[in-house]
Amino acid sequence: MPQTDTNKDNASRSLWRQPRLWFLFGIPTGGFLMFLAGIIFWGGFNTALEASNSLWFCSSACHEMDTVFEEYKQSVHYQNQSGVRATCSDCHVPKDWVHKIVAKTRATMNELPKTIMGTIDTPEKFKAKRLELAENVWEKMKKTDSRECRNCHAIETMDIEKQDKSAQKKHSLERMKEKGETCIDCHKGIAHELPEGYEG
Ligand code: HEC
Ligand code: HEC
Ligand code: HEC
Repeated sequence: MPQTDTNKDNASRSLWRQPRLWFLFGIPTGGFLMFLAGIIFWGGFNTALEASNSLWFCSSACHEMDTVFEEYKQSVHYQNQSGVRATCSDCHVPKDWVHKIVAKTRATMNELPKTIMGTIDTPEKFKAKRLELAENVWEKMKKTDSRECRNCHAIETMDIEKQDKSAQKKHSLERMKEKGETCIDCHKGIAHELPEGYEG
């Protein structure tokens, strides 16, 4: 009957006007929905972060990386006896969250606009810029004491006896400390060819 319908409507309408009910149910429900949205956003964000670290993304998202990718494929970090691979992000992106976010933000602000503007979009332009790009990487690695290399390598875990005589002397913690040396000081060009014009 129409009469009861209106009554029901009024009843439910006045229920919505109960401030106490809002407090009782509204806040917890809102909180829970925000919590869910947070999880979904967080998951999506981290998935995107992971994707931007993948070899696929680094080697094919922009053709600017063709040269360095082809060279890397010839290197021991791409394929070796043990089958352990270091991908682009292992060497170029910090592992810990804070430094990773800083690096990704910087890449988005600096590299993305340059990609759009085509700063190094031909082999010739790349070649002309290469020394500068390499120097930026070296400077960063020097500043972090080759942090990314050390995610995989450590002097402490090397079987020094098995190394070349030339390496044995140099891979000493005391010596490195004394001289202020770090991995990248001696191991430039381990994944790519050294740029033209570089004088070691
Ligand atoms: C994800 C792990 C990983 C990271 C990061 C990494 N490496 Fe390596 N590195 C390896 C593996 C695996 C090998 C090959 C070991 C073998 O010979 O089986 C290797 C080999 C080497 C070699 C021997 C090269 C040769 O020709 O035999 C040098 C030198 C080296 N790495 C230096 C570095 C430096 C410098 C960095 C930082 C810029 C670095 N690595 C970052 C895993 C890594
Ligand atoms: C003072 C120079 C110097 C420093 C600093 C240095 N290395 Fe080396 N390293 C050498 C030399 C020289 C060799 C032998 C020739 C070669 O493989 O390049 C060598 C060889 C290696 C090899 C190959 C070893 C083998 O026998 O297969 C690895 C891996 C390596 N270094 C990693 C590192 C890492 C990681 C660091 C930083 C923690 C580091 N090196 C710091 C000079 C250095
Ligand atoms: C084992 C560590 C390592 C890996 C893996 C690696 N790089 Fe590098 N990359 C370096 C180092 C060290 C430099 C500094 C120049 C040099 O020493 O060759 C560099 C330099 C560069 C440069 C500057 C231009 C130049 O040639 O110096 C670009 C761009 C670059 N890398 C992109 C990549 C991409 C893309 C990948 C994956 C396809 C990759 N790198 C994989 C260590 C690495």
